[in-house]
Amino acid sequence: MGKIISFANQKGGVGKTTTTINLAASLSVLGQRVLIVDADPQANATSGLGFETNERNTYTCLIGQANAAESILQSTDIGGLFLIPSSIDLVGAEKDLGSMEDGQLRMKQMLQPVKNDYDYIFIDCSPSLGFLTLNAMVAADSVIIPVQCEYFALEGLGKILNTIKMTKAQLNPGLEIEGFLMTMYSSRQKQDNQVVEEVRKHFGRLTFDTVIHRNIRLSEAPGFGKPVLLHDAASSGAVSYLNLAKEFLRNNA
Ligand SMILES: Nc1ncnc2c1ncn2[C@@H]1O[C@H](COP(=O)(O)OP(=O)(O)OP(=O)(O)O)[C@@H](O)[C@H]1O
Ligand SMILES: [Mg+2]
Repeated sequence: MGKIISFANQKGGVGKTTTTINLAASLSVLGQRVLIVDADPQANATSGLGFETNERNTYTCLIGQANAAESILQSTDIGGLFLIPSSIDLVGAEKDLGSMEDGQLRMKQMLQPVKNDYDYIFIDCSPSLGFLTLNAMVAADSVIIPVQCEYFALEGLGKILNTIKMTKAQLNPGLEIEGFLMTMYSSRQKQDNQVVEEVRKHFGRLTFDTVIHRNIRLSEAPGFGKPVLLHDAASSGAVSYLNLAKEFLRNNA
């Protein structure tokens, strides 16, 4: 049974896409079949994996002009890694979905037929809590919330927690928090340790043990259209995400 996981945080630039791409690639290397759904009009997951947008994409699937199965692209670099690309049309999806009667359910409906073809389906959300992110929450079994190591990291998390609570109450009672993931940690920044401690104190077991270190290779890799594992497998970024993949698999065993 495939598990659908949304990567969400309305705050921009916290590592949602980096985590989607690199956790997915690491899991694929560990033998899992993973489908990424790029649900952000910025299309960073699409370009970051070396794909171009296609006439069949997340938008055309959501509005019923294509189905998921025929829109899936396969990575040539990593066996077991697949993607439904984004397109700029997704900007209009907020409005289009908002005017449909079942507009909150479209992502769930579109993924239903392919759900069992994959071990995991990852939805990379945009930095907003609009209709697209709501669709991703309704479709998902769980949510991973990347949190950037910085002062006031906890600020703003209330908003996404509220959205999850509302979704659970009204549309998707089974929705769980898979985990909070601390990203861009720098051991040289004393404050980063304090931030990690603070988040752990607040969310306890819901915080992944694995912390993603700040690593230049992680920010370079999308420019080559590759996950960090293929850009520099020995880098601390690659090691961080492999460790996360192992922790994730233990949690889901
Ligand atoms: N651990 C890291 N070390 C170094 N750079 C990182 C790391 N994680 C992310 N970055 C860089 O930080 C920037 C933001 O990361 P990313 O695009 O993953 O965030 P995002 O939450 O998806 O952003 P958006 O909200 O715009 O979708 C990118 O340039 C990315 O390459
Ligand atoms: Mg992103």
